[in-house]
Amino acid sequence: MSWNARALDVLAAGEPTPLIDFPVQAPGIRLLLKDESAQPTGSLRHRHARALFRQAVLDGLVTEGTTVVEATGGNAAVAQAWFARRLGLPYIVVMPGERSRARARAVEELGGECRFVTPPLAIYDAARGIPGHFLDQFGRAAEHDLAEELFAQVRPDWVVTGAGTGATSATLGRWVRDHDVPCRIAVADPDNSAYFPGWTLDVSDYATGMPSRIEGIGRPRVEPGFRPDLVDLVIPVPDAASVAAARHLRAVTGLAVGGSSGTALWAALELVERMRARGESGTVVSLVGDAADRHLATYHDEAWAAAKGLDAGPYADELRRRVALRPGGE
Ligand SMILES: Cc1ncc(COP(=O)(O)O)c(C=O)c1O
Repeated sequence: MSWNARALDVLAAGEPTPLIDFPVQAPGIRLLLKDESAQPTGSLRHRHARALFRQAVLDGLVTEGTTVVEATGGNAAVAQAWFARRLGLPYIVVMPGERSRARARAVEELGGECRFVTPPLAIYDAARGIPGHFLDQFGRAAEHDLAEELFAQVRPDWVVTGAGTGATSATLGRWVRDHDVPCRIAVADPDNSAYFPGWTLDVSDYATGMPSRIEGIGRPRVEPGFRPDLVDLVIPVPDAASVAAARHLRAVTGLAVGGSSGTALWAALELVERMRARGESGTVVSLVGDAADRHLATYHDEAWAAAKGLDAGPYADELRRRVALRPGGE
């Protein structure tokens, strides 16, 4: 078997991640969480990494011995290092800031190399300057296998996701369009992100120039992988609401999720509320992007939130009004 054929075997779809029933006070409406923290590297980025490597192998850009390069400080680095190790390829990631981050250790444990660059935006040029293949998760945003897996598990009325590269919402939107499935796709967008204003105003190169405080989602500009035509609704979610919802999600499921899962949950609960008010029944799926102990020191920590000027209190009150902590309601 050739190296490429073996590589495509390694890059075949993995085990489906579970759906978790999430309690809501709305008779006839089911809210399910698609738990991507169950991926081997703990996040939705596992799917992006698989898709990026697969595309690169199919296009002949990565083969035996190719050094693979990426620029990110996020979960993508761990997922890509995981696949690089399985493919026996050298992996170098350029990360923003100073060394010592927990994620860098995880990459190194998988045999990858981390290089640190300031200012943060210099990571892209630095990565382009390294001999090898630059995966470029934003520039090449490959659609992945979430939709196929999800729609084999359940037929929801809405799926709610965040948008970073845009690949996930595009994957979902394309699948429902191509399969003529009556499911709508909502993107939950945090403060400072360009996706909500870009989508509302129909401006494809809208830019806020502001970084998102919700790791993994929300971008200073509309990225090339975001497909507004494949998205039915973009719901803006205040960062303090994302924090409150992430904490609520943890209280109910025990998962130490990141802020982005809170953003999606908050928007999903808004949809549930709208359905309830209209007397509709149905199923909403909300994505859990990742979970990790390191989030306990940020989104789940009151001192961290206060230092960022995020007051989750009013949103937590709102959640208590909207959601039952146990199935059946309290
Ligand atoms: C809940 C959630 N939705 C969506 C995304 C990002 O999706 P994409 O980069 O495909 O737009 C993330 C982060 O990876 C996430 O945590």
